[in-house]
Order: sequence, then structure tokens, then C-alpha cells
Amino acid sequence: MAQDRFSVSSFRDAKKKGRPITMLTAYDYTTARLLDAAGIDSLLVGDSLGMTMLGYPDTLRVTMDEMIHHTRAVARAAEHAMVIGDMPFMSYHVSVEDAVRNAGRFIQQGRAQAIKLEGGRQVIDKVKAICRAQIPVLGHLGLTPQSVNVMGGFKVQGKDIEAARQIMDDALMLQDAGVFGIILECVPAALAARITETLEIPTVGIGAGNGCDGQVLVIQDLLGLYKQLRPKFVKTYADLGSAVEKAVKDYIEQVRTRAFPTEKHSFAMAPEVMEKLLSSK
Ligand code: KIV
Repeated sequence: MAQDRFSVSSFRDAKKKGRPITMLTAYDYTTARLLDAAGIDSLLVGDSLGMTMLGYPDTLRVTMDEMIHHTRAVARAAEHAMVIGDMPFMSYHVSVEDAVRNAGRFIQQGRAQAIKLEGGRQVIDKVKAICRAQIPVLGHLGLTPQSVNVMGGFKVQGKDIEAARQIMDDALMLQDAGVFGIILECVPAALAARITETLEIPTVGIGAGNGCDGQVLVIQDLLGLYKQLRPKFVKTYADLGSAVEKAVKDYIEQVRTRAFPTEKHSFAMAPEVMEKLLSSK
């Protein structure tokens, strides 16, 4: 029997019941099918795809068209998981109108069920307008990679009192603005736990300790597929990178030695057809 799709109300219920929410990034149909079948609650089509799928050095040059293209592929695969599209840099920074129009594209063209955007007080007007358009919004505080140039690198956020207070206040402002949850990235575990206790909406942590209402990881990190960057918070559950490398080396070797393909991988032809072919030369 098909399971119901995980939704905004599932997020709320999960927090109430103390059932941790599971989220992973996904960027393509095949991977999203596997994650959905494994029972993941939510698939985030993160702008991290700029690095993991498109080979950019950061997330800043990802476009709306690229995000919609990948979101659509993931949405085609997800039967149970809630699909969340990540608003890329400059898709919600210039105006409220831009923000609502681009959020709408994730729903209409990307077939996502919700969007995520980065930031607190500086994007509150956009968050409110998107929520008013009946589009569920997931917030994102702490280390927000689109602000890498302002933050001066990928660093843990909220370590001193002012920074910690600012993240706490931003979380409350986002909650008041109507977000259904907040991702907390790279903040001290104690701060994330305190924010989680304070909020009525769930938090989803990444590098934010074990006190959040859920966890998210980048799928390439979990599977050991993206080795250029390995932050401390990443746990690699499988070394698919090495498995892929070995499989490809085996393939190269077998093609070169004619060990592949064998008869098992080939199609037979009736001998009389071949005879006719030869005699008709
Ligand atoms: O883009 C992304 O993948 C993200 C997650 C790491 C939270 O924002």
C-alpha cells in the first residue's frame, strides 16, 4: 500500500511525538528513487548541487533554471518523501516579487512541495510574502553558504554571545513569519538544542549536534562520493567512491582483455540467417 506523503503537518507531528525527522539532499531521479524507497522523510534539492553535481567551487553561481531542472527529476521519483527546493543565490535577494515568483516556480515547474531559503531578519519580508502565497517555507540559519563572502569562509556560527543571540532571535522571527521548520547548520550543539526547545516548529540539524528535531546530510557525503571537502560533522555510511572506482577499473581491464562481454551479454543469431547473409555477398 502506498504510504502518505510526508508533509508540513508530518513535520509538526514528528516534533510533537519526539520522532526524529530524516532528510537528505537529492539531485537526480535514480538517487531520489533509492532514498524514497528506503523511507526517507524529506528530500532537499539543495543548491549544494552546484558543487556536487555541476562542479562549481561554491553555491553562488547556481541558477533558478538549474534548480528547477534537478527539482523536477527528484519530484518524479518521490512517492513518499516531501520534496523541498532550495532557492538559489539572488533568486530572493532583490525583491519580494522576485522571491514569490521564484518560489512559485519550484512548486509549479519543479513539482516540489516546499521551498527553503537562507537567512533570518534580512529575508523576513520575503518569507512572509512566500508564506502568504501558500508556499511552505523551510528556514536555514547558522552557516548559510550563500553568505560565504560575508562570513569569511565556511565556519561554525553562533559561538559568542552576540552571534548566539542573533541566531536565536532570527529563529523566533522566522517562526513568527510562518516557516514550518528551520535547518540549523554548523552551530554549537548546545545552542541548537536550546533553539529546538524554545521553538514550536521543528529544527533539522547539520553539524548542529544531536538535540535537533531531525538531521540532514548531503547524500554524496553520506555515500562517500564527494571527497573534495569533508567537514567534521559528516558521517560516511558507505564508501561508494572507492566501489565506483574499483568497478570502473575492472570494466576497463575486462574490455581491454576481451573478458567482457561474454556470451551471456550477447545476442545470438540463427546460423542459417548468417549463412544467407554470407552467400548473398
Ligand atoms: O544546499 C544544501 O544542500 C543545504 C543543506 C546542506 C542543508 O542547504
